[in-house]
Parts: sequence; C-alpha cells; structure tokens
Amino acid sequence: MQSITVRTPNDLAIEEREDPHPKAGEVRIRVASAAICGSDLHIWRGHNPFAKYPRVIGHEFFGHIDAVGDGVDTKLLGTRVAGDPVVSCGRCYPCSVGRPNVCEELQVIGVHRDGGFSEYVTLPAKNAHIVPDTISDDEATMIEPFTIAANLCSQLTPGKLDTALVYGAGPMGLTCIQALRGVYGVKEVIAVDRIDERLQMAKICGAGRVINNAGLDLVEELTVLGILPTVIIDAACHPSILPEAIRLASPAARIGIMGFSSEPCIISQQGITSKELTIYSSRLNSNRFSQVISWMLAGLIQPKKLITHHFNYVQIIEAMETFEKDQQHCCKVLLKF
Ligand code: NAI
Ligand code: MN
Repeated sequence: MQSITVRTPNDLAIEEREDPHPKAGEVRIRVASAAICGSDLHIWRGHNPFAKYPRVIGHEFFGHIDAVGDGVDTKLLGTRVAGDPVVSCGRCYPCSVGRPNVCEELQVIGVHRDGGFSEYVTLPAKNAHIVPDTISDDEATMIEPFTIAANLCSQLTPGKLDTALVYGAGPMGLTCIQALRGVYGVKEVIAVDRIDERLQMAKICGAGRVINNAGLDLVEELTVLGILPTVIIDAACHPSILPEAIRLASPAARIGIMGFSSEPCIISQQGITSKELTIYSSRLNSNRFSQVISWMLAGLIQPKKLITHHFNYVQIIEAMETFEKDQQHCCKVLLKF
C-alpha cells in the first residue's frame, strides 16, 4: 500500500509499505478520504511533543471495512466507517470513568501509531463508527474534528441564556461556533481572530458578531459594547488568552481551553474566585462519534462549510503547503485515496 509518512521532521514522503493485517479485535479500513489537521502539520514540522518517527500521519479518516481480525463479526465487511483515533486500554482510572481520551496508555492513531493518510489503516473494531448512507464521504471525514467541539461543549454545557466568545476562527473555532449555535442554541456567538477572511468564515458558521483583535484591546472593546461573555472557548491557544478571558468573563462564566503550549501564563486566584469561574480543558474526544453523527443526521451542523480544498493524496506536499501558508483562504483540506 501507499502511505504518507513523516520519516523525520521536515521529511514527508509517500512510501510503499506492507498492507497491514488486522489483529484480533481489529478491523482494517480501506481509506477513501482523510482531512489535514494542524497536528499533522506539527508532526511534519517536528513541533508535536507526542509524535514518534517514522510515522504514517492522519487521524481524520473515512473509508470502508475491508478485512476483520479474529473475533470480529464478518458482517462488518463493506460497511462505511469513520475512525476514532483515540485508542485506550479500558482499564485505567480515566478509562473507568468514561474518559478514554486521557487514558494512561493513550495511543492516538496518526500520532503514537500509524494513521489514516494511507490506503489502509487498522484499528480496534470499536473505534470504527458506522456512517449512515445519508452522510456523504466528505461529511463523514469531518466527524472527528467535530468530536473535539462536542467534547469541549459537553463540559461547558452551553444554553439559551449564554453569550459565547470564541477565540480563533480556524477549523477548531469554527466547529465550536457551529455546535454552540446549531446544537446548543446559545443566544449569541462572538468570534475573535486576527484574520478578516477567517472571521468571514465564522459569520458563515453562525457567529453573530466578529471582532478583529489585531489592533485593539478586547477587554475595552467588549466593555464599550456592553458584552459580558458567559461561555468562552479558547481555540487560538496562545498563552496570553486565558488571563484575558478571565478578565473579560461574566460572573459564573465557564472557560474552555484546548491548547498544548508549554509556556506559562499568569492568572490570579482572585480573578477566578471573585466571579466563581469554571475552567475546563478538553483533549481529543471521549466516545463522541455517535453524538456527532446524530448532529449531522439532524442537520444541526454543516461540515461542508469548513471544507475549502480537495486534493488527491499524491499531491500531499502541495496540500500540506496550502494548509500551512494560506490561512486566509484555507480551512479544511480533504485528501482522496
Ligand atoms: P489554527 O491555527 O488554524 O487557528 C487558530 C486561529 O487563532 C487562527 O485563525 C489565528 O489567526 C487565531 N489567533 C491566534 N492568536 C490569536 C489571538 N491572540 N486572538 C485571536 N485569535 C488568534 O488552528 P486550529 O486547527 O483551529 O486549532 C486551534 C488550536 O486548537 C491549536 O492550538 C491546536 O493545537 C488546538 N487543538 C486542540 C485539540 C484538543 O483536542 N485539545 C484538538 C485540535 C486542535
Ligand atoms: Mn484533528
């Protein structure tokens, strides 16, 4: 099979590899489509702290089951499935309390083990989620990115009384905006970014107001506008954002962070406790695939609004460079296999 492999940082190639055989309890997917994520780029550029090289990248993928391992029902052969990249042990404390996404032995497909930018990928049968025929291949490829928003929102419990502020109108901010409006029906979403084209995408995804914060003080701006956000999502993930979010939050607000920066940031107990703020963090997803599939079936989210580019997998370098360099016009890039 042909696989897109990062051999060492900055060395990405299409390699010929042995077709993988599903182990007991596993299935093999013949990949039809996969999407590029920032973390694929970070593995390529050597900036992902978890990656081991060489690595077949890709954790957002869709295809059909074409082989099954011992103990797996052969009726699954031929079914259309999306792959959950979170492979967990099922025994440790986080797994026991329904949080396999932070399993003590977490193996993320495309990061810790070989991924979906490949003609074939193997994974535990329980990680392959059946996709109804009314969901297109492109939409099915977008299930995983929406599980990130689903995981974070499940903690934030947004509702009709909430005014939400979303930092960052990249793929992650946009999936969150769609979920906040389409699924949770918050009163208003305000999107904040430095790139006007991305803010335009935020509007298309349901933001009622957008703010380019490149040249302004957001705390002052929101004060002038009389806006007190009650739910804040940091999908830009710069260390300066959490302290600012604490300052501009309404009393009783919830803040969700999802970044991996190792840079410290300074926050005070008073800033948090005086308003009794709650700060959540969210990593990957804990069994959120079926939830996102039901959102898609109910038409609550519009994944196609995020898809800006399609490439054949042989054009991987061009696809990755477009994703890296053209933040104005590029959001989700899909690869066809
Ligand atoms: P992205 O880089 O495409 O988007 C980030 C956006 O934030 C950009 O549009 C940028 O202009 C904007 N931005 C940067 N600094 C800003 C600031 N100070 N104020 C306002 N906007 C600002 O990234 P993507 O793919 O949307 O991911 C966002 C973040 O989420 C990344 O840091 C990524 O590592 C993280 N992430 C976390 C996951 C998790 O499970 N916890 C999963 C996926 C991504
Ligand atoms: Mn991703």
